Amino acid sequence: MNKYTLGLCTMGNSSAALIKDGKLIAAVEEERLSRVKNDSSFPHKSIKEVLDIGQVNINSIDTIAIYWRPWNIWSRAWFSSKEIITSSSTRQYIFNRIKKLSKPSESLNEGSWYDLFKIRQLLKEYHGLNHSKIKYYDHHITHQKYGEVMHDCAEYITLSYDGGGESYSSVLSVVKDGCRKILSKHRWPNSLGHFYSTFTGFLGFKMLEGEYKMMGLAPYGKPIWKDLILKEILNLKANGKYVLNKKICNYHAALHGDFNPILAKLFCKKREKNEIPTVEHINLASSVQAAFEEAQLHILKPAIEKYPEIKCLVLTGGCALNVTANGKILDTKYFDKVFIPPAPHDAGCSIGAALCNYDYFDPDSIRDPYQGRSYSNIEIAKELIRLTGIDPEKFIKSDENIVNITADFLEQGHLVAWFQGRSEFGPRALGCRSFLADPRNDDIREQINLKIKKRELFRPFAPSTIDLNNFKIFDLSQPSPYMNIVATVLKNEVPAVTHIDKSARVHTVNKNMNKLYYKLIKRFGELTGVPVLLNTSFNIQEPIVYSPHDAITTFLSSDVDALVIGNYFIKKEDLKCT
Ligand SMILES: [Fe+2]
Repeated sequence: MNKYTLGLCTMGNSSAALIKDGKLIAAVEEERLSRVKNDSSFPHKSIKEVLDIGQVNINSIDTIAIYWRPWNIWSRAWFSSKEIITSSSTRQYIFNRIKKLSKPSESLNEGSWYDLFKIRQLLKEYHGLNHSKIKYYDHHITHQKYGEVMHDCAEYITLSYDGGGESYSSVLSVVKDGCRKILSKHRWPNSLGHFYSTFTGFLGFKMLEGEYKMMGLAPYGKPIWKDLILKEILNLKANGKYVLNKKICNYHAALHGDFNPILAKLFCKKREKNEIPTVEHINLASSVQAAFEEAQLHILKPAIEKYPEIKCLVLTGGCALNVTANGKILDTKYFDKVFIPPAPHDAGCSIGAALCNYDYFDPDSIRDPYQGRSYSNIEIAKELIRLTGIDPEKFIKSDENIVNITADFLEQGHLVAWFQGRSEFGPRALGCRSFLADPRNDDIREQINLKIKKRELFRPFAPSTIDLNNFKIFDLSQPSPYMNIVATVLKNEVPAVTHIDKSARVHTVNKNMNKLYYKLIKRFGELTGVPVLLNTSFNIQEPIVYSPHDAITTFLSSDVDALVIGNYFIKKEDLKCT
């Protein structure tokens, strides 16, 4: 009999994952279905979706694996009680949380610890669960288990770091001779994630969402305040420890827009939302990023010194979304290989929790980032007829032609919305739900920013490429199949994906993982001599598109020149003729 496990992440970036006999069948984030960015409500839609993709009833599930142990939060409770006494803003935050906990979580797009205590009841009520074991796993172990599947190394060091798990915000492990040893744990609320998010808010970006914007701003500035930050706010201590000055850098207060006035005295005036960043704001972003990178290396140093022979590193947890820091650690040469999973943030913990329920698993299935639903040409055609009124059969192409026509169209300088195969799991568009363009044309960046993405001009676009060995345009010593490592750009041939500091967030496309996208880049390379495409997520101010409905409506509301969806190639002008 098959053994099915349903993994759940129920807060943060809610998600569900289905594993059958160690093989990952499907994994979906709630936001893709609800269309609410960073949806952290109980993942009812994702549960239904992964069960549907796996064609399995919930009562066939052997185990429900949860990514968090809700009773194991004593240090949080202790911190909260101390803070309630001393901080009015934290008091307000805690009271708001308690108030929300008394409401049904379905009415919120915010997770609830309370839901974790009534998993069986929720699954029974909404999905008809009759039995199944329910197992709760340590949050950081679920981060680490998922990240560690990404490689075949016999011994390795793993750092999971995020806003915070039940009691810890960073856990450093070594796995050697088949045994895991915890080298250090950093107790919440000392948290690199909280440190980074608080400054994200101070610099006028939405906390828990705009961190990548601050990271994108950082290379424009100079890290003039790095030492001051490390002296006053993020103190690095012996043995890889650190202490966050919560009085000055108060994450919970910052969530309410309440920042300690000392921050303005130490650095500069807080940036308001939509305000053009000043030189000081940009320098502060640069300083925060530099301090973060120094702290990351500091946490790792005890492992590096104790196990210099171990050359494989796994980075996971929400802080591993910091692709610049990921690239910097690879540059240090302490490690030959650095592995980061497609979804290092909490969404990936649904897979990690499910993995904890198996002694054996199929690594290839888990390394595959394409875990959502795919749609047939028939399903796509129905949506095209319904939403546009066109006759889709006029626009259908063969597999070979769809690649050639799209490559020609891109080479001519057009923008393409590309919707193919199963949707990605994780925050990056990896060539199944992407806007694509010619990276040789620097002007196209402005076109995309103004006409499609409607986002800040300082944010860089990423390249997808297929051949690191023969086309040495990026200084990268290993593949980056999930677009989570930044590398230096060695040539001037791709200005549209080269950041101000000559870096790029590289995506290397694996032929076996995404055959069609690989062929497209290869063909574009044959036409232009540059096997690189500009790849940015297929969305406009909302989560990445998931279904043909999302794709077609987003295309219709944009100025993109063509939609390539399944075997259909539809130019914007084709729609105007109907
Ligand atoms: Fe986490």
